[in-house]
Amino acid sequence: MKKTLIELKAIHKSFGKVGILGGIDFIATAGTTTAITGNSGEGKTTLLSIMGLLQKPTSGSILIDGKDAANNGIAELSKIRAARIGYLFQAPRLVGSLTALENTLVCTALAGKSNMRKKAVTLLASLGMSKRLDYKPEQLSIGQMRRVALARALVMETDILLADEPTNDLDLALSQIVTSSLFQAGANGTAVVIVTHDRSLAAKTDCEYNLADGILHHVR
Ligand SMILES: Nc1ncnc2c1ncn2[C@@H]1O[C@H](COP(=O)(O)OP(=O)(O)OP(=O)(O)O)[C@@H](O)[C@H]1O
Ligand SMILES: [Mg+2]
Repeated sequence: MKKTLIELKAIHKSFGKVGILGGIDFIATAGTTTAITGNSGEGKTTLLSIMGLLQKPTSGSILIDGKDAANNGIAELSKIRAARIGYLFQAPRLVGSLTALENTLVCTALAGKSNMRKKAVTLLASLGMSKRLDYKPEQLSIGQMRRVALARALVMETDILLADEPTNDLDLALSQIVTSSLFQAGANGTAVVIVTHDRSLAAKTDCEYNLADGILHHVR
């Protein structure tokens, strides 16, 4: 049986009186790719960021390796995130003062990993970014920023990879490169969870859920 890496139990999330997530149970296992689809505003990003330990649920638990992770302090949470979770934000969110290469490496320092430069350069090259290694975010197009953000999420080869609309702002050829790098991570044993509106991407995953009315509906 495949190893369970993340398990969500009875996750509820409200912002003030507005309920967004109404009881989510979810399991992500090693080497499995999962798509989460759903209309705009249904709570996909909220759900992914709770999975990624970036915000806390109103109630419910998040188990990583069977241990409740969400109740850790801030320092411990950022250590778990850096070591275990690659996260691609819906908006690329790069550090403005750092170059493309430095942005790619920003989490490796946090996780105490050195000598990652060569790998970062190779990864950026595979995403067509070789000529932009020294560019700052303000000198990059949105699609280029997204590719740097993806490289940052991939470089640590974490066993959990969460990607929020990874093919937005990319042309078909780049979408295919990005898609294949996500599935490569899955083939290497990573639990990959992808929030997407991209039907051709969602159709390739091992399983698919649709988020509607605060509940995950199993599609296939
Ligand atoms: N910090 C916040 N405070 C108040 N409401 C919020 C907050 N974050 C998200 N929401 C609300 O939660 C709902 C879900 O937002 P979310 O970003 O998770 O949707 P989404 O499914 O990812 O949408 P999209 O497809 O447009 O990215 C929205 O109605 C949004 O207004
Ligand atoms: Mg979103």
